[in-house]
Amino acid sequence: MPSDTIDNLLHESRRFPPDPEFAANAVAGPDLYEDARRDRLAFWANQSRELLHWHKPFTRTLDWSNPPFAKWFNDGELNVAYNCLDRHVLAGNGDRVALHWEGEPGDTRTITYAELTADVKRAANLLTSLGIREGDRVAIYLPMIPEAVVAMLAVARIGAIHSVVFGGFSAESLRSRIDDANAKLVITADGGYRKGSVFPLKPAVDAALADGGTDVRKVLVVRRGGNDVDWVEGRDLWWHEELPQVDADHEAKPFAAEHPLYILYTSGTTGKPKGIVHTSGGYLTQAAYTHKYVFDLHPETDVYWCSADVGWVTGHTYVVYGPLANGATQVLYEGTPEYPKPGRWWELIEKYRVSIFYTAPTAIRSFMKQGRQIPQGRDLSSLRVLGSVGEPINPEAWIWYREVIGGNRTPVVDTWWQTETGAIMISALPGVTTLKPGSAQVPLPGISVDVVSDAGVPVGADEGGLLVITEPWPSMLRGIWGDPERYQETYWSKFGDKYFAGDGARRDKDGDIWLMGRVDDVMNVSGHRLSTAEIESALVAHPFVAEAAVVGASDETTGQAVVAFVIIKRSHRDQAAAVDVNAELRSHVARQIGAIARPRDIYIVEELPKTRSGKIMRRLLRDTAEGRPVGDTTTLADTTVMAIITEKLAGGVASSED
Ligand code: PRX
Repeated sequence: MPSDTIDNLLHESRRFPPDPEFAANAVAGPDLYEDARRDRLAFWANQSRELLHWHKPFTRTLDWSNPPFAKWFNDGELNVAYNCLDRHVLAGNGDRVALHWEGEPGDTRTITYAELTADVKRAANLLTSLGIREGDRVAIYLPMIPEAVVAMLAVARIGAIHSVVFGGFSAESLRSRIDDANAKLVITADGGYRKGSVFPLKPAVDAALADGGTDVRKVLVVRRGGNDVDWVEGRDLWWHEELPQVDADHEAKPFAAEHPLYILYTSGTTGKPKGIVHTSGGYLTQAAYTHKYVFDLHPETDVYWCSADVGWVTGHTYVVYGPLANGATQVLYEGTPEYPKPGRWWELIEKYRVSIFYTAPTAIRSFMKQGRQIPQGRDLSSLRVLGSVGEPINPEAWIWYREVIGGNRTPVVDTWWQTETGAIMISALPGVTTLKPGSAQVPLPGISVDVVSDAGVPVGADEGGLLVITEPWPSMLRGIWGDPERYQETYWSKFGDKYFAGDGARRDKDGDIWLMGRVDDVMNVSGHRLSTAEIESALVAHPFVAEAAVVGASDETTGQAVVAFVIIKRSHRDQAAAVDVNAELRSHVARQIGAIARPRDIYIVEELPKTRSGKIMRRLLRDTAEGRPVGDTTTLADTTVMAIITEKLAGGVASSED
């Protein structure tokens, strides 16, 4: 966590009790905690029955007979897309706006639930006509356009499994995800708008598929950017040409509650991203439940906006499945907050009268830097609830968010969860909880967590420890695609019966939980997870590089930033000296993984600090990268290495940011 966070933790002592008027109309009440405490499984069963439509009702809530492989609502059947679409239309809400979409150039589309349902029905028929069947994998590589939502729901509707790949990932990353899941179809676009220009997507798909060897038979291409694209006859199909040719009607068939819904890749501690698998009934239950209570959703009147891209889990659960299952009206925005000028987000909040807004601390910190006069130039009075996700929010940013964006009125909920948890696990409830800036606070009703020592023993108040989840939860990951051992090993081997989240945490005297950042080799840059090992592998794949070590160093805006220490091969030193080697390596990482993984700084060094058994001591490199005195070096094989590195860094050889 950034060091200023620690100072802020110490200095911010204000508390924000619920406003009585807000509490009187709040969806959640203290009874929710009592209900869950009384009978946790009955609580979840009731939530699921209330929030979802089951084609075939379940009779069993949880089967935990073969841990850590959970089955929730196992004998029930439902259709996820039907829950997000048809049932709202059948209930008479077809005219309600589902999506207020705004493209970055300013073009707009307003899509009602009836229209979205019709679009998804046609797309479902199209997928079927292309040979996609129940259980097949479909890769989705799209910008933030309504078709991304339509594609996901169409895949879900026919019982296929989507694997959404963030549009910022490279062709290489896309290829490895297509291969790992044996995807049969890719849905992409010619390009999308970002920072005022079109970024092409189709060329990355072409590159990913160029040398064959995949199961992909067809590529569906949405026209968005209008940019020229290469075309592979027999493989590539335009979305807008194919859709009108298929039937408009489509009946949603039910699938088993544990039928897989999607795979979403996330970084772990090794070089290979993990395909996190989520299933249907439990996932949708917790997505809908958390979206309703954590954001105090009143679907008839609220306008909700989550700024996440659908390429990340936040976009899956809080742009697609949670809000649509709840029949919410939401804003979907294609571009960046800065285009055509800073303040675009506030303009959208004013324009659509957004009442619930959910974003990441990195975004808030960058707005703080731009100054409060930008949001203050807009009417943000429609806002009633603000949410934060993805990384610890330092109290200073929390207070700014509430004061400047929330007009000193709105509750701010800091929501802790992960790709693996599928939905929010720890958060205050607006209208119920007295808010404490900087703390994610308490597990939601129905969720059980603890903070334990390395030996698995609960730690005392204010002592640091590891966050664990002590009971299975409905939206928990069901495994890692194709790798059940890695699932057990990563999350369940450390403490046996408790899920190990990989986060450090502390519980204070009031029982509130403070997240202290990852305890493994996973970095959190702008709320996005990156693996040190994956970036190291990318670096050593460059012909110049002999060895590389990557650390996440504190960064004022992005929480952490990628900092790489690289040894250049003796044989390539002359070649490296002839080019801007830092720039070369930074763009190499962007090409290999994606721009988000590009190191902020690269330091060329002669040696890396290693233990006698050859393990790189990243802790020491982090000290150096953050300008702190280097910690204990006695376990190093060569204790002089750090002194040399530190001296070299002090000489100012670091690269700088773009
Ligand atoms: O370290 C925690 C951090 O983000 C990690 C999960 O990353 P990802 O799977 O990409 O999902 C991000 C969006 C849910 C966690 O292990 N994290 C997430 N939310 C918070 C957080 N850290 C502190 N406070 C949070 N509210």
